Amino acid sequence: MRIALGVTGGVAAYKAAELVRRLQQEKFDVEVVMTRGAEEFLRPLTFAALTGHKVITAMFAAAPGEPANVESAIEHIAVAQRIDLLLVAPATAGVLAKLAAGIADDFLTTLYLATKAPVVVAPAMNINMWEHPATRENLGRLRARGVRVVDPDEGYLACGMTGAGRLASHEAILEAVRGALNFVRDLAGEVVLVTAGPTCEDIDPVRYLTNRSSGRMGYAVAEAAAARGASVILVSGPTALPTPAGVELVPVRSAEQMARAVGKHVDRATIVVMAAAVADYRPVHKHAQKMKRGAPDLSLQLEMTPDILAAVAAEKGRRIVVGFAAETERLAEHARRKLAAKPVDLIVANDVSHHGAGFDVDTNVVTLFPRDGREKALPALSKREVAERVLDEALRLKSGARNGS
Ligand code: CTP
Repeated sequence: MRIALGVTGGVAAYKAAELVRRLQQEKFDVEVVMTRGAEEFLRPLTFAALTGHKVITAMFAAAPGEPANVESAIEHIAVAQRIDLLLVAPATAGVLAKLAAGIADDFLTTLYLATKAPVVVAPAMNINMWEHPATRENLGRLRARGVRVVDPDEGYLACGMTGAGRLASHEAILEAVRGALNFVRDLAGEVVLVTAGPTCEDIDPVRYLTNRSSGRMGYAVAEAAAARGASVILVSGPTALPTPAGVELVPVRSAEQMARAVGKHVDRATIVVMAAAVADYRPVHKHAQKMKRGAPDLSLQLEMTPDILAAVAAEKGRRIVVGFAAETERLAEHARRKLAAKPVDLIVANDVSHHGAGFDVDTNVVTLFPRDGREKALPALSKREVAERVLDEALRLKSGARNGS
């Protein structure tokens, strides 16, 4: 799918370079259109190198005082026809005003009028400009016309002020792009509960037991489920990851807290995906004060944590329950044993010792072990792609259960 990314002249223009990368990761072919203002902030060469396409700059349009050139007279029509979506990010107040009024005085604004593709705008500007009635009115007009507006985030602004006006996160922009393109919403109506990340089991106020889980697999499931229309509750141990757009985050620290949070929300869930790397053991005693160095050796007495997956599976009802199995050897044997021991619908097993699988990498190599025996070994895929396959499988099992097969 082809996206024209309109970059306009704001400080946030530099973020558009990273946005191009994120769009490409989602397999979009991106071509960039820059306004004259944008060129004050960034060189077209940056985008040409990233996209592999010629960057359309204001030069191609007839600017005031310059003779119109023939190429510009037809180019915007060609671009308008070949794109599946027009995204303007960042969109300045000035460009929003022109789009709202239908003023076509450069390539980007002309393209807006010439295309029938859906349009998404992600404004970024000073807070006073964002709150100005003129801007509000312009946005209202654009929204009424079906343009999707990705509201800016609040935070520190380049002008030194704090408030709304920062370009929205790439994730929020991507979410709007997917929505505008009417991506499959096959999880609409489902409530997906996802666990993710490691747990931390405290020894004393400064020390704890944990594992190498980054949380990326679970976050990818949450993000994919939200993009497909589900309501998503993400119960997550400590991670360094941003919360995916549109997802309800329930942050927890220990296995005990995770068990309680899952217990609280599971009734609402129609699909449960347990991707967390829950500690199996925790210290019996949590010391109230920092333990002092002294004895030449030290033993920590550990006790089992609650098995959250087993508890959810035991009360699963019509819910689809998916467990993960991180193994370092005899993958199939362990996965099948887990399937036999707990009444889950699907085990997603990965060999974490495999190159390109497991912790701290963006890819994963998994085999799906559904209860109906239709096992599937997947090739090395991005965690997002694995997430999509896991959700596909959960839906397949759900419709199988409904049809009584
Ligand atoms: N899990 C859980 N609660 C625990 C431990 C694990 O809910 N206290 C879940 C994980 O989220 C995962 C699945 O159980 O979905 C399997 O986790 P894994 O660590 O691979 O296996 P274990 O069940 O702990 O079994 P083993 O230690 O034998 O590998």
